[in-house]
Amino acid sequence: MKYAAITDRLADLGGAKWEVHALAKQMQAAGEPVIMLTIGEPDVATPPALLTEAKRAMDAGRLGYSNGRGEPGLLSALAARYSARTGRTISPQQIACLPGTQTALYAVLLTLTGPGDEVLVGDPLYATYEGLIASTGAVAVPVPLRAEHGFRMQAADVAARITPQSRMIFLNTPHNPTGAILRRDEIAALGALAQAHDLWMLSDEVYEELVFDGAEFVSPFDMADLAERVVVTASISKSHAAPGFRSGWCVGPAEFSARLLPVAETMLFGNQPFIADMTAMAVSQPSDVAAGMRTRFARRAGVIYDRLNGVQGLAVHRPEAGMFSVVDVRATGLSGEAFARKLLVEENVAVMPGESFGSALRGWVRISLTQDDALVAAACDRILAFTARQLGAAV
Ligand SMILES: Cc1ncc(COP(=O)(O)O)c(C=O)c1O
Repeated sequence: MKYAAITDRLADLGGAKWEVHALAKQMQAAGEPVIMLTIGEPDVATPPALLTEAKRAMDAGRLGYSNGRGEPGLLSALAARYSARTGRTISPQQIACLPGTQTALYAVLLTLTGPGDEVLVGDPLYATYEGLIASTGAVAVPVPLRAEHGFRMQAADVAARITPQSRMIFLNTPHNPTGAILRRDEIAALGALAQAHDLWMLSDEVYEELVFDGAEFVSPFDMADLAERVVVTASISKSHAAPGFRSGWCVGPAEFSARLLPVAETMLFGNQPFIADMTAMAVSQPSDVAAGMRTRFARRAGVIYDRLNGVQGLAVHRPEAGMFSVVDVRATGLSGEAFARKLLVEENVAVMPGESFGSALRGWVRISLTQDDALVAAACDRILAFTARQLGAAV
């Protein structure tokens, strides 16, 4: 039988990246005491007040069809939130609610890019971005994010890759997997390029509320002179420990949002009203669960840095936000993939190979910060033992 070209474009972008994680799950199911430091799920349950609100809304019959853009209450709550953040009036017509950041990104890319368009995207990158870009027929143009620049995208690296086909700069701040946050001047320089070459700026801000103390989050959407070309995506998955609700949104210029609406309607024809009510409650007040995660994740990142950085064979990049630390293991002589596989088999510690997040993290691994402190410390001990053995074996 014949299949659409999209199935070929996406065929190699899925499962292979998660093989170490899948193997670790199998080992766990077989009774092995594996320390799982692979994926980034919040380490707490969804707040009871949000569950109560979702149940209240269901009991109140908020179970009918919605509309393509989103429930008015949630749109108003998001408009208020982004108006407060940007200092401009953001209207509900600039927002569309979609099931999670992932779907929002998909709808945005379908709205703004098509076959042959080039999307400038940082490398390393979140595991689904290549598929998102390829799905529309657009081409991902990797922009190296360099450790010496704290893994933050530099305008010169973008400028060197701009062509007449360039359509978008795809940002992720705070960044997965490196926890980097773009600085104001860096965003301004990227914005100047976007203006000069008439490019969109897409900013995935799903980790906005997981910024550690001492770091400052800045969004290109907050810069008034860029607002006409910036689209932001986010959700309550991380900020409110609610990934299973699949509740996200995009916000951008009103004209963009009008163009996106038929795309969203075609994909979904509306979200779930009871989830919209719960999300409206979530985004209308500061998130206590996010505050707790910020503290715990920063502390665990500190433990990993203090224990592993500078030890022979290892160099740790310190995150400023998010749910992960990345560790350079090149000096062990292993690829990230080989390090992760051997560490799993020999020490029962599951981390992600850096290679799953782009070629710039070849020879790195990503460690999730979402397990409790004792497990993170135990994992560090085992990583140290494994690395020492590895270096001994390599001599
Ligand atoms: C950078 C990034 N973007 C998007 C997502 C997807 O988030 P959501 O649950 O809102 O779809 C994730 C999830 O891990 C992520 O790390």
